[in-house]
Formats: sequence, structure tokens, C-alpha cells
Amino acid sequence: MPDALATTLADIVGTTHVLLDADLKAAYETDWTRRYHGTACLVVRPGTTAEVSAVLAECGRSGAAVVPQGGNTGLVGGGVPRGGEVVISTARLDSIDPVETITAEVTAGAGVTLARLQQHVRDAGFGFGVDLASRDSATIGGMIATNAGGIRVLRYGPMRHQLIGLEAVLADGTVVRRLPGLSKDNTGYDLPGLFAGSEGTLAIVTQARLKLVPLLPERATALLAFESIDRALEMLNRIRVLPGLEAVEVFFREGVELVCRHTGMPLPFNQDYSTYVLIECTAQLDPTPSLIEGLEGGTFLDSAITRDRRQRDALWAYRERHTESINAEGVPQKLDIAVPLTRLSDFASSVQARLHAAAPEARAILFGHIADGNIHVNLLGLDLDDDRGADAVLRLVAELGGSISAEHGIGIAKTRWLSLTRTPEDIATMRAIKHALDPGNLLNPGVIFA
Ligand code: FAD
Ligand code: MLT
Ligand code: ZN
Repeated sequence: MPDALATTLADIVGTTHVLLDADLKAAYETDWTRRYHGTACLVVRPGTTAEVSAVLAECGRSGAAVVPQGGNTGLVGGGVPRGGEVVISTARLDSIDPVETITAEVTAGAGVTLARLQQHVRDAGFGFGVDLASRDSATIGGMIATNAGGIRVLRYGPMRHQLIGLEAVLADGTVVRRLPGLSKDNTGYDLPGLFAGSEGTLAIVTQARLKLVPLLPERATALLAFESIDRALEMLNRIRVLPGLEAVEVFFREGVELVCRHTGMPLPFNQDYSTYVLIECTAQLDPTPSLIEGLEGGTFLDSAITRDRRQRDALWAYRERHTESINAEGVPQKLDIAVPLTRLSDFASSVQARLHAAAPEARAILFGHIADGNIHVNLLGLDLDDDRGADAVLRLVAELGGSISAEHGIGIAKTRWLSLTRTPEDIATMRAIKHALDPGNLLNPGVIFA
């Protein structure tokens, strides 16, 4: 059957875009963290929306389940095969229209990488509201499918908030197109909003109409050291209303040690501290004076403030190189959680003890987007199928009224815990939507729902 399907798909996309060879498929079969892998029956790389539609219709006819894949930077195992599926790579859906300056919008193909989009809109004098460390590989389609967050959510919101319109293909090949979008359009259900965050289980995103933001030329970055997360939260409270505030990120002693060991970078200050916060402001005119003024009276122990591009990049490296440094230490269990900011102190003071009680051998590296209450808890030292530590952390999150998946999605990593923070009624409603759009359960089976 794969042979017959491969022949039919090759008729649609061309022989060179149907990969059957094990060596050629390998890069699509393992995720970025190396935790998740499975064999694809084949990888197909359609180049147009019409080809995506025909490919999905054919897969449907032969009952072949599909896994959509963009840049394969996802961290919850949703973009790689579990066993025998067709991987549909969006890499060739890489067209990008000229920026429409009158509306400050652009239409981009699902396979366009974030870095390429950023460069394209910068050349036209605009910025894009979402930014992530995986920018060189993460695609617009994957970012919509995961409703990616990143480092600017406090200012511009997650990926869903950037969507003005969308084109997507349903499991049976039906193309749903709302391009070009309109800022105001309440004509029925918000399908782009629904597909955002659906993790490839409802439709394959093929194009998006995206809102752009002003390109602010001046940027100031501060790295501050604190004796505890409580002091850092006090600072967050002071600076929340700073003009031009764009990012407030947190990381801790263990993470900095690991990043320095892995990258060869020196410690950020002459001595090490418990808690670090990175703050960035952007504006038309140099925001350094207002940033310094905003920090005055805060109880930080050390600081570095700069507007120089290279020095800013050096400060950001302490934060952005956490992910690769953790992975260099071993394959982690990645828990991406959020709690209400009012409970973040409770979370921070309890998480290590809960973890220790459940799985004493686990080591946790924490960092994240403090302004969103979003902490990435990375567990090292446990077998990958040993979920005692994950269970303890996610139950604590649920007790505090938080989310077990702040920005990465449920994927296959967290299906077990879906009911911790979603009611049976909520899950039944989501399942009804899934069944209505994909009755054969062909689109990313096993993702979100076990
Ligand atoms: P993939 O990994 O290919 O796929 C992710 C999911 O989307 C899968 O379920 C897949 O089936 C589905 N999918 C992909 N493309 C489509 C499509 N066109 N239509 C429908 N479904 C599709 N995430 C954040 O939110 N914030 C961060 O700050 C952040 N930082 C990161 C830093 C690093 C170093 C790394 C490695 C990852 C980071 N991530 C972050 C996670 C990841 O980059 C995001 O989840 C990103 O949105 C995934 O995009 P992708 O193109 O790589 O998608
Ligand atoms: C980040 O904020 O850097 C990420 O979401 C990646 C990660 O959790 O490792
Ligand atoms: Zn993150």
C-alpha cells in the first residue's frame, strides 16, 4: 500500500518530493530534543496549496494518517511520526508576498521561517510581534499550529494575536481560505483563531496573513541579579508600566552555570547569584534613561545595562542558549507551564520539594518568560518514560490554577495530563470539533488526545 500511495503522491508533487529512502527520511523522524522518534512510511513535500489538498485527499482515500511538519523545532513530539504515518513537510510552501505598507500586513507561506519573515518585514520598515530563539528554523505554519509565544508576548501577544487571515486544508482536502483578511470581520466563527494552537490536528496551515508592528530603532537591555524570585517579582511589578517594555525573562544559577559550561561564556557578573532577570525596552528614541529610572529603588544585587547591539546579544545568549545547553547535558523531559503571576512565588518555593519527594534523582533547570507566569521546567536525570517528576510538577501547577502547556502545546508529551486542567465538558467539546473536521482521525492522531 505505501508503494501505491507513493506512486500516486509522486504524480501530484513530483518524484523528487516523495522521500522513501531511510537516509532521506531520517531528519524528519526525530524531534529537536531527540526524545521523540518514529518511522514515517514516507515524507511528502508539496509545493502549493493545491498539492497539499490533493495529497490529503489521497491519504484520506487510502486511510493513511498524516503528521504535518514545519521546522521540526517543536518540543512536545507532535511533529514527528509515531509509527508508519505520512509526514507532510511544509518546507516548500515558502512564498512570501511584498509587505502591504498601507495595512502593515504581509501574507506568508506556512513554510517560511520566522527569521526570513523578520528580515523581509524589516527591509520594508516593520517588525513582527513574535520572536523565539528557534527563529532560524521554526516556520510560520508551525508557529500558528502551536500558537507559539516567546519573548514578546507581554507586548504583542502570542501567534494567534498576529493572525489577520489564514488559508488551511482540512483532512479531506477541502481548502478553507480567508485571505486577505480584515482587521474587522465578525462573519461567523473565527476559524483562524481555532486553527491556531490546534497542533496539526484540525487542518494543515498553508498560508497566513499576518499583522506587523512598528520597527522601533532603539533598544536597551538590562541583566539584573536578585537574591530570590520574590525580589525579581517585585521588580516586575515596578517595571510593568515602563514605556516600550518588550521582554522580561528569568533564569537561575543552575541554568547559568550550565550555559557557561556548555558555551564557554564567562559568568555574567563577577560572582554568581540565585536569580537573573533580563529586561528589554524598545522605542523611537533611546529608552535607556527611562529603563534606568524604572529600575531605581529595586532590590537587585548586580546589573548590566546596554544599548550596544553586540553587548545586548551577549546578554541574551545567557537566556537563549539554555535550551541547547540543557540538551547537551542529556535528553530532558520538558515541562512548559504557566501559573497566575500571583502564584508564581508559591510555585517557585514548592516545586523543588515536590519534585524531590516524587523523584529524588531528578534535577530541574528552570527558566522562562516571567512576565507571562510561564516557566520552563526541564527535568534531567530521569529515564524518559519515568514520569514521576513530571506528574508531581504538573499536579502542583494544577493546584495553583495554572496551565500544563503555556506555549509549546500538548503534543504527545502531555496527553496523559490533559484532564488536570480541562474539565470533561471542555475535553468533550474539543473532541467534537476534532471529530467534525477530521472524522477519520487522520490528522496527527495521538496529538492532544491520547
Ligand atoms: P514543528 O516542530 O514542525 O511542528 C510543531 C507542531 O505543529 C506539530 O504538532 C506539527 O504537526 C504542527 N505543524 C507544523 N506545521 C504545521 C502546519 N503548517 N499546519 C498544521 N500543523 C503544523 N516555542 C515557543 O512558543 N516559545 C519559545 O520561546 C520557543 N523557543 C524555542 C527555542 C528553541 C531553541 C527551540 C528548539 C524551540 C523553541 N520553541 C519555542 C518551540 C518551537 O520552536 C515552536 O513550537 C514553534 O512554533 C514550532 O515551529 P515548527 O515550524 O518548528 O513546527
Ligand atoms: C524558550 O523560551 O527558550 C523555549 O520555549 C524553549 C525551551 O523551553 O527550551
Ligand atoms: Zn519559551
